[in-house]
Amino acid sequence: MATSNNDMPPIPTVRYAHIVGWGMAVPDTILTNHDLEAIVETSDDWIRSRTGIKERRIAGETESTASLGLKAARKALEVADILPTAIDLIVVATSTPENIFPSTASLIQNWLGATRAGAFDLSAACSGFVYGLDMAAQAIRSGSMQVALVIGAETMTRVMDWQDRGTCILFGDGAGAVVLKASNVEGGVLSAVLRSDGSGGEMLGIPTVGSEDLYHSDFSSNGHKMHKMHMNGGEVFKFATRVIAESIQQALVKAEVGIEDLSLIVPHQANMRIIQAAARSLKVEPELFAVNLDRYGNTSAASIPIALCEAIDQKRLKSGEYAAFIGFGGGLTWASMIIKWTGAKTPDARSGINQQRRQFGYMRVRFRTQWKRLNQQISNFIDRITFRRNRIQRLRDKVDQL
Ligand code: COA
Repeated sequence: MATSNNDMPPIPTVRYAHIVGWGMAVPDTILTNHDLEAIVETSDDWIRSRTGIKERRIAGETESTASLGLKAARKALEVADILPTAIDLIVVATSTPENIFPSTASLIQNWLGATRAGAFDLSAACSGFVYGLDMAAQAIRSGSMQVALVIGAETMTRVMDWQDRGTCILFGDGAGAVVLKASNVEGGVLSAVLRSDGSGGEMLGIPTVGSEDLYHSDFSSNGHKMHKMHMNGGEVFKFATRVIAESIQQALVKAEVGIEDLSLIVPHQANMRIIQAAARSLKVEPELFAVNLDRYGNTSAASIPIALCEAIDQKRLKSGEYAAFIGFGGGLTWASMIIKWTGAKTPDARSGINQQRRQFGYMRVRFRTQWKRLNQQISNFIDRITFRRNRIQRLRDKVDQL
């Protein structure tokens, strides 16, 4: 709030939400199209020509949606040069959460030591990251928050039906994160358009044990396998090509930015043919789009932040330039956003003390978690011994009564 020099109430200053940090994490294990040929009846040639995908990453035994999200988040905080204790809100967009609750966001909040943050998961499938970014930006612009961490994290390969060649060839695992910070400098998130059409819900989904099948004994997953993803590829393809251009144009109008002003479009990484069709509809060169689906496939809510991280590292965005994000997927949902890029601190401008404090904080959380676990084990052990001792005592009492 700006203060005035008389008794008038303070004049609210315009606030903006800027992306000041970014980070990504993908598993090391690569599954190529050739590897898939041994799993389903397909070919490298078919997958490349129909989708543009060459390989994708697969989470290892010790990796999960939360662990990938944590890695990406730590990198984003590093770039932003912000301590976890400064975070007000953590949003994790995911379709593969660790649990229904506790949320993946709460797990990450604890592991980061973000003790002042609220945390929740957001379910909007592949549009989730843009939805989450908009929610966080609104909270910052309203003045109620200063710093938000928005993560898109997925382990899609864990919900694949590995007998369904129409879907299992498309998806991969990974996470991307950004730090949003309040500023009075014009820029950051300028506009967003969020949409949903639940009538298309059957086109793609993951039936799971939700309140519906626990409550209604006649719950049916409509012939789909429980906990496995199903998709009507052709219909989703048509839906995606229809909404991308329209949605970006709506967000551009809202932001009062022209399509010719865009330096980068970061689309959800579903299929190269969808991106090419969107480029034709928007009458822009396909090179304007950030594309990395050839290396990671479709990582659902993680795909936009991962592609954004790579585009930033490739210096495809300069300060003052405009970019668009466009997500689409299950729900059906779709969402687009226009941002004005302002960049972040250069590595040498970052504080070494903050870096040490972050590392110390992570160590403290690890120590605290292990300490809690040990305490739990000790108390379980004592409970077991006490229970046994009491049982022996009861038996002795019974013998004495005989
Ligand atoms: N390998 C080899 N052949 C395959 C195959 C595979 N992995 N998957 C399907 N086929 C076959 C089909 O069985 C069909 O054979 P048929 O003609 O003998 O019946 C043929 O290829 C064509 O199938 P079709 O489904 O029409 O292919 P397509 O060109 O539509 O491509 C997708 C399929 C899934 C790649 C495409 O529809 C797509 O990308 N859709 C969008 C999916 C998406 O992005 N989802 C996520 C949104 S968030």
